[in-house]
Amino acid sequence: MYKVGILRAGPRRGLHICQPARFIQRLSSPELRSRFVDYFEKQGHTRVKSASLIPHNDKSLLFTNAGMVPFKEYFMKPDTAPYSAATSVQKCMRAGGKHNDLDNVGYTPRHHTFFEMLGNFSFGGYGKQEAIALSWRFLLEELELPLSRLRVTVLENDEEGYQLWKKQGLPDEKIVRCGMEDNFWSMGDGEGPCGPCTEIFWDTMDDSLDERWLEIWNLVFMENYRTADGKLTKLPTPCIDTGMGLERMASVLQDKRNNFQIDQFRHLIGGLRQVLKSKNVAVSSSDDPTAHEKIIADHFRAMCFLISDGVVPSNIGRGYVLRRIIRRALRSAHQVGMNEPFLTELYPHLLEGFVDGSYPELASRASSICNVVANEEATFLTTLNRGLSLLNNVFTHPDHQKSKTIPPDVAFQLYDTFGFPFDLTLIIAQEKGWTVDMKEWRNMNILPQFTGYNHDLLHQESQIVAIEATKKGKKTDVTLSIDPCPFYGLGGGQIPDSGSLTLANGSQWHVLDVFQPYEGGIALRVAPADGAKNIDRKLEQDKEFLEAGQLVQTSVDLEKRTGAEVHHTATHLLNAGLRAILKTDIVQAGSTVEPNKLRFDFTYGKPLTPSQLDAIERWINDASKAGGATNVQHMKLTDAVESGAIAAFSEKYGEMVRVIEVPGVSRELCGGTHVDDVRRLYPFKILNETSVAAGTRRIEAVAGLACIEWYKKTYEPVPDILKMLRASSTKDAAAKLEKSMQQTRDIQKRLDLVTEKLATAGEVIVHPIETQLENNTKVPVRVHLIDSDLDAGFMQKRANVLKETQAGYAHVLLSKNTIVVAVNTSKIQDHTANSILRHVLKSVKGGGGGQAEYAQGRLAEAVSDMDGIESKIIPALKARA
Ligand code: SER
Repeated sequence: MYKVGILRAGPRRGLHICQPARFIQRLSSPELRSRFVDYFEKQGHTRVKSASLIPHNDKSLLFTNAGMVPFKEYFMKPDTAPYSAATSVQKCMRAGGKHNDLDNVGYTPRHHTFFEMLGNFSFGGYGKQEAIALSWRFLLEELELPLSRLRVTVLENDEEGYQLWKKQGLPDEKIVRCGMEDNFWSMGDGEGPCGPCTEIFWDTMDDSLDERWLEIWNLVFMENYRTADGKLTKLPTPCIDTGMGLERMASVLQDKRNNFQIDQFRHLIGGLRQVLKSKNVAVSSSDDPTAHEKIIADHFRAMCFLISDGVVPSNIGRGYVLRRIIRRALRSAHQVGMNEPFLTELYPHLLEGFVDGSYPELASRASSICNVVANEEATFLTTLNRGLSLLNNVFTHPDHQKSKTIPPDVAFQLYDTFGFPFDLTLIIAQEKGWTVDMKEWRNMNILPQFTGYNHDLLHQESQIVAIEATKKGKKTDVTLSIDPCPFYGLGGGQIPDSGSLTLANGSQWHVLDVFQPYEGGIALRVAPADGAKNIDRKLEQDKEFLEAGQLVQTSVDLEKRTGAEVHHTATHLLNAGLRAILKTDIVQAGSTVEPNKLRFDFTYGKPLTPSQLDAIERWINDASKAGGATNVQHMKLTDAVESGAIAAFSEKYGEMVRVIEVPGVSRELCGGTHVDDVRRLYPFKILNETSVAAGTRRIEAVAGLACIEWYKKTYEPVPDILKMLRASSTKDAAAKLEKSMQQTRDIQKRLDLVTEKLATAGEVIVHPIETQLENNTKVPVRVHLIDSDLDAGFMQKRANVLKETQAGYAHVLLSKNTIVVAVNTSKIQDHTANSILRHVLKSVKGGGGGQAEYAQGRLAEAVSDMDGIESKIIPALKARA
């Protein structure tokens, strides 16, 4: 890696034969790229395309931060390399993880977040001697740099390296020995290939620079391997890794004092000045760009390259670095007076710096890159001014001016509500000579692990922090935790989110439920999205990507979430509306917030009257029609309660609480998610009001789109109803329906009358005979055949009539399979209806029974005519007992 700080004070040994700048070849950045790789290709190296900024072979790195990263494996196992020597121009990023230059950008001549590294590599092919010779020839013969302005450093005990440089003709005074801290290269503090290095320096001949001697090339002799516990071992085969920063070398070849004056940045910063001017923003005309110009240009390159490699702004990992880069660039633009979206207008100027097509993805993905940038820019710009004015209040407040410290709750609010990455707040504070109490900020215990309040963060990159698979009988239950977590499952009556997680291998898992396993935790219950029945097998397949530390892409079901938010805010308004209309301090006794409806329980002694319900509905509709942003504030519980915020007694609150306010309408403690403007609650409709327990009432209601859906569904059958009733309007239909119902009632009355009449009408068939039962007494019987169209109800009525009007007879009524016997016991004492039926059933197949006056049975075979009566029933009645 490049290091600053050595050889600062210029040549220590005085050798200083100056070559006038005009003798140096002028090379553009694209020319330098091609000269470098062409040269090494000619020397037997394979030309390798730049790998992605996302290191796919190395989980320990956030970004590809050196040319050697894509080849790391080959240094350890050179025989697996497809070539023994390679050359590349590699995209690099040093803005996160172990190598982070982000804070220096703009304030030094050389630091970048994104830069390009030219490199040549040997995997067990050539060694130290050849590496030194190749680099020296490139500088002196290809680039024709004057020897007088070059010098090198070697590791102090690397005698071989020292002698190899001497062999190249370098006098002793141009070979400087340095210690391990300068001339031993490793990837960082961790495990990996490493080794002594030799560095080549260029004399800028500019004593005013901090670094008169500029390191231009680092040749690493990969001879060692550092193990996880810090021990150095020898690599089986020594290798070579070299790196030359393109921007630095271009500044040498283009005779520029700093990297931001080279061709690429000239295009970009020139473009930036044009864009600013077109928006009437005053711009500098100096050759040396201002710090803000450097920041915007550097960060713009970085954001575009990151997005082109698939990184999207988020609140974790690479996505968060990208977000910070974009937001820092926008804040710099704001500092120079640019307050509207402009970033994408720089894109053509960025392309000018890469006309050689070295990164074709810049052109092919232009529209996606610009879309992502524009979205993130728009999101941040809406809150940037409000956040800055919040900060300004702090800067001008006498209480804070003494300590010059930004209070932790302001830093948190800037992050949570206004999207200021913490480091941005820190930069702004530092510029003013202020600080932020970061420790206390963290201690506030409102750590931002739940990021789902912001819809922009519902689709983001997250990290698995824990995963558990438990067997429940034959089923396997998979739960996991991710950080940050945009899935809501914090209760408060609001239904948990659902959605999906996409693993790094592309496999998708559905999020079925979200819950709090313990205070402050958020757990997701997941299942394979492809519906795989064998969850264990799926777990095994995805094992590598479903473990702690792995990144996942989150996707929260937005439709469900938005519906819940409408109803959650509506619940707050209902709570406030009930108090306003009933003019009493009701207590919330529970609530359920769903995507399509809400249920709100509250204490109240009696049912609400229709006019009260009507007034409450109107109150909420008026408030939502008037519109109003929902503000979120974090404050101490005591302050919140004092400010009149409604708190539900059943909830347990911490010292710091979140207050949701719709100014002038509602103010309530709540951890849930809400709409950004109450306009979205319109229309609101109370569906019903009922009792749940003594003194507790329940209101069910619908709001917003769900309410419109409710109306639509309710209205859906109306056209058919109108058609059926031949009505011209619902009012007409109601009148017609009323009329039709009256008609039905009249018809029913008439029908009852007719049935009664029929029942009392004369006999259908009468056949008097005598039957003799067990007790040897005889009884006169009349057998009646009843029309088969008349039902059992009729037979019963008929039997009753016969029993009264012809009381001296027992009556047997038959209709198909039904047999009914009726006996008036005041006239006939020796026989009962039941005994007669049983007597018949002795000879005729069937079953049934009854009492003294009435019995009923079912025959196996129907009796439908006189023949049936004569052949079956009469013989049965006459049969001797
Ligand atoms: N890996 C070394 C560096 O980054 C040489 O390429 O400086």
